[in-house]
Amino acid sequence: MAQLWGGRFTKETDQLVYQFNASITFDQKFYRQDIEGSIAHVAMLHKQGILTKDEQDQIIEGLTGIREDIENGTLQITEEYEDIHSFVEANLTERIGEAGKKLHTGRSRNDQVALDMRLYTRLEVLYVDELVNDLLKVILKIMEEHLDTYMPGFTHLQKAQPITLAHHMGAYFEMFKRDRLRLKDIYHRMNYCPLGAGALAGTTYPLDRAYTAKLMGFDGPTLNSIDSVADRDYVIEFLSALSTIMMHLSRFSEEVIIWNTNEYQFVEIDDAYSTGSSIMPQKKNPDIAELVRGKTGRVYGALMSILTTMKGLPLAYNKDMQEDKELTFDAIDTVKGCLALFTGMLDTMKFNQARMEQSAKGGFTNATDAADYLVGKGVPFRDAHGIVGRLVLYCIDHQKSLDDMTIEEYQAINPVFDEDIYDAISLETCVNKRLTTGAPGREAMQSVIEACKNYLAHDWQDEDKEERKKDE
Ligand code: ARG
Repeated sequence: MAQLWGGRFTKETDQLVYQFNASITFDQKFYRQDIEGSIAHVAMLHKQGILTKDEQDQIIEGLTGIREDIENGTLQITEEYEDIHSFVEANLTERIGEAGKKLHTGRSRNDQVALDMRLYTRLEVLYVDELVNDLLKVILKIMEEHLDTYMPGFTHLQKAQPITLAHHMGAYFEMFKRDRLRLKDIYHRMNYCPLGAGALAGTTYPLDRAYTAKLMGFDGPTLNSIDSVADRDYVIEFLSALSTIMMHLSRFSEEVIIWNTNEYQFVEIDDAYSTGSSIMPQKKNPDIAELVRGKTGRVYGALMSILTTMKGLPLAYNKDMQEDKELTFDAIDTVKGCLALFTGMLDTMKFNQARMEQSAKGGFTNATDAADYLVGKGVPFRDAHGIVGRLVLYCIDHQKSLDDMTIEEYQAINPVFDEDIYDAISLETCVNKRLTTGAPGREAMQSVIEACKNYLAHDWQDEDKEERKKDE
């Protein structure tokens, strides 16, 4: 056991207490951020005349060495330290001696951990955003390829009206686009630096908080030292955005699973993304989609956990807040894995166009259009609705679709029907007459696709980088 706070204590900590209290097994995940924060802190301490140049240089060299040694495997992060902060500081002092003991001047572990967690999640927001962007590119590619792939659109999982695969995919494009917008907002809201808040009330040293904030790419320092160490809103917001991403992925997975069934056969999942059964040789299971759907609960769980942990905490730091890490890390890794695999699965999936079109023809998805046809011939809509109802009944009895009825059959039900009915209710007509913004008609879809391309061409991460360059 190696602790930073032995002075006031006369007895050793009980071993079980020590283990229960320690966080090194999981907070070692942000050793890089801990070192990055310490380097910025030390550079600022020197600039403010609190540390000499020599002390600054020794400390930075020591910290850089620790990072290198962890990365090349010569330095193991061991559980004899309580947390990553203690580990780094103790190791630094071992390496460089007295100067190492000055690192923690004007700092508390409370603002240190607040900084580390923020640096870590900030980076992960960007990684997740990039993965969602990759998914959007694949969705857009499918949209462009399938403007004329007709399929049934569903309500209540019952065939409703004909749409195209491009249109269906376009719905997911919008969802994941909003997910990215959420990540962008969260990034900008969280991008303020808590370092310098100390334990909760700032410090008496003349720290330059704006300087450290700038060194680490923050938009500025946080403005209340209590809030700085007590706030985990950004973790909650991020987990909420991750939960929404999983909800979208899970709905998409559910559709892939249904579409991949023998009954539907709308899609075929690539062999590389399916698995077999140990007993049933005919099986090719959509395990990836099922796992993505299944892991959604785990990410929601992380969100519920931190919401519950935070709800009763008096200001400022309480040890409960150490619980912000494990499930958050797990949720982030889970979502990244799901996004990468889902995108790969979608990119390699084959769409069975003939089967989709056949399905759109059955199920009377063009019944509304047949009624509209009659209205065009002067029949009042209410009567047209009744006539088409009778047509449908006739088709069900004779196991036909509206498209396969002969003109004689049509006319026997109502003489208003003419040869032009076939064109009026063809899938092509049904879809391409729907031209309001956001509808599946070819021209309407084409302008949406342009908008989607335009969205992807203006990446907010790149634009942010440009802005930052201008500032410098
Ligand atoms: N391991 C702690 C955490 O994750 C670091 C902060 C410790 N601060 C304290 N006052 N005990 O929250």
